[in-house]
Amino acid sequence: MEEREQDKLLGIKTVGTREWPDNKKIHYYRYEATPYKALHALSENYKFKDADTIVDFGCGRGRVAFYLHNRFHLPVVGVEADFRTYREAIENKIMYRLKTRNIAAPVKFKYGLAQHYKIDKKDNCFYFFNPFSIPIFRKVIYNILRSVEKDRRNEDLILYYPMQEYEIFLEIGTPFEIIDKIRVPGENDEREKFIIYQLREQLY
Ligand SMILES: C[S@@+](CC[C@H](N)C(=O)[O-])C[C@H]1O[C@@H](n2cnc3c(N)ncnc32)[C@H](O)[C@@H]1O
Repeated sequence: MEEREQDKLLGIKTVGTREWPDNKKIHYYRYEATPYKALHALSENYKFKDADTIVDFGCGRGRVAFYLHNRFHLPVVGVEADFRTYREAIENKIMYRLKTRNIAAPVKFKYGLAQHYKIDKKDNCFYFFNPFSIPIFRKVIYNILRSVEKDRRNEDLILYYPMQEYEIFLEIGTPFEIIDKIRVPGENDEREKFIIYQLREQLY
């Protein structure tokens, strides 16, 4: 099914891209949504039901949050640094909620930088589709690790279309371990996949 048709089923508008101005784009990457086909593959192969709250760092117009909320009825939080894009996520939420009043779990969007987001002790599944540069990614991961040190729990990271720098940092600089790789069917591009990392409570 077309991306626009899938959007329509959820009552949202997430198709398209948005670039950052030249002085910001070195660290902040452009808006582009995870394809529905990829989200479908992820949902078929990853146990979202184990998550308490899913956080999408650099959530854009909210596609990942709405899709997962709709499919798994789990609390979701999206963090977005571009105000216009954040506003679009909020507009989407108004329309989406008209269709999904029956799902009790909350959908929240926060306007701000991912590296300033205060990790909640219920947040235990973090989604990244190449939102920002490696120095910012590092800060976000350290925030997650600090939160886990304080409130011990299992944590999963989901990386879509992963950048090699993210992979190297997670392998060398953190206790996260790869637990799964999920390929998007029908795609030849090597990077068309999800890598799932886990930090298990008993391992640290
Ligand atoms: C590739 S898009 C991914 C959108 C969404 N996660 C998805 O997969 O559909 C990356 C998003 O991250 C946002 N972003 C970039 N730097 C950010 C930062 N430091 N904090 C929060 N959001 C950021 C961009 O504005 C953009 O909307």
